[in-house]
Amino acid sequence: MTTAIQDSALIDQWHPVLLSSALLERPVSTRVLAERVVVFRTSQGVHAFKDLCIHRGVPLSLGKVAGDELVCAYHGWSYSGCGACTRIPSLPQDQPIPSKAKALVFRCIEAHGLIWVCLGTPSTPEPPISSRLEEGYAEVIMGPYQLRAAAPRLIENFLDVSHLMFVHEGLLGDSQFAEIGDYHVHQLEGALRSDEITVYQPNPDGTGRGVHSRYVYEVLAPLCAAFTKRSDEEPGHIFRLFLMVLPVTETESVAFMIKQRNYALEEPDEIFILFQDTLIEQDREMVENQTPELLPLDLQMELHLKSDRMSIAYRKLLREQGVTFGTA
Ligand code: FES
Ligand code: CO
Repeated sequence: MTTAIQDSALIDQWHPVLLSSALLERPVSTRVLAERVVVFRTSQGVHAFKDLCIHRGVPLSLGKVAGDELVCAYHGWSYSGCGACTRIPSLPQDQPIPSKAKALVFRCIEAHGLIWVCLGTPSTPEPPISSRLEEGYAEVIMGPYQLRAAAPRLIENFLDVSHLMFVHEGLLGDSQFAEIGDYHVHQLEGALRSDEITVYQPNPDGTGRGVHSRYVYEVLAPLCAAFTKRSDEEPGHIFRLFLMVLPVTETESVAFMIKQRNYALEEPDEIFILFQDTLIEQDREMVENQTPELLPLDLQMELHLKSDRMSIAYRKLLREQGVTFGTA
């Protein structure tokens, strides 16, 4: 199995680990690229450490946050947000704290309703969606969706237009209208963007009204994709969906989504969340059962059609960027 450390491309990315609303006063244990990480909140903001106390190897996530410090559950050592050990209760007061007593600190930020962690040196100051979210749109955050599938398989599924008519038949597509017109994919500075792809959708928003939707798919980072959707029947309505996938292990992932729309601004979030939950369950059956589990980057593997151009471009991009975690 590939270890995270070899994958410099993903090490330097921001990974979404939790909803902001899920990080309260208790530390939370998570995994990023198979590395156990504890995240916690203090008055200074959010912090992430390797989830391991250097004293006796207990996960720091078993401890608690007290006085803006993370206190280990086993012998009460306290760590400040910068990882320095500030107190060892069993140490006589006249003795200094050993200089090696510290936590391994990872970069951690809170943005767009999510907590993000980077295990290495962030390749961008903020997650790539930061520059792409529109002002003034209604926004819904969805997830976490836990899936027993490789993160790149999930991104590719999101980019796969020709599954809509089968996996999401009756909602996002109709198997009688399964043909995909030719389109191209453009690469710009490590990102991908498709031409518009038109799809007939019988019931894309749960209202039972069929529309011809025009999708533009984008890859913003190896594990972050988006699409923008407009329809001929509802001119001016713009729907955008961002998918960010946390690679937990090579074959386990957590997906988060942010949906933006410039219409129906007053609709309650629950309607969109329930609809997305349905779609995810339909996708789950596919992505959790694909073989091989890891996304094959060798284009000789599996069979590709012209309508798979976005997937092909995505596999090439991962290959160029040297993504090895979750790929084969
Ligand atoms: Fe953490 Fe001893 S193991 S304080
Ligand atoms: Co799907």
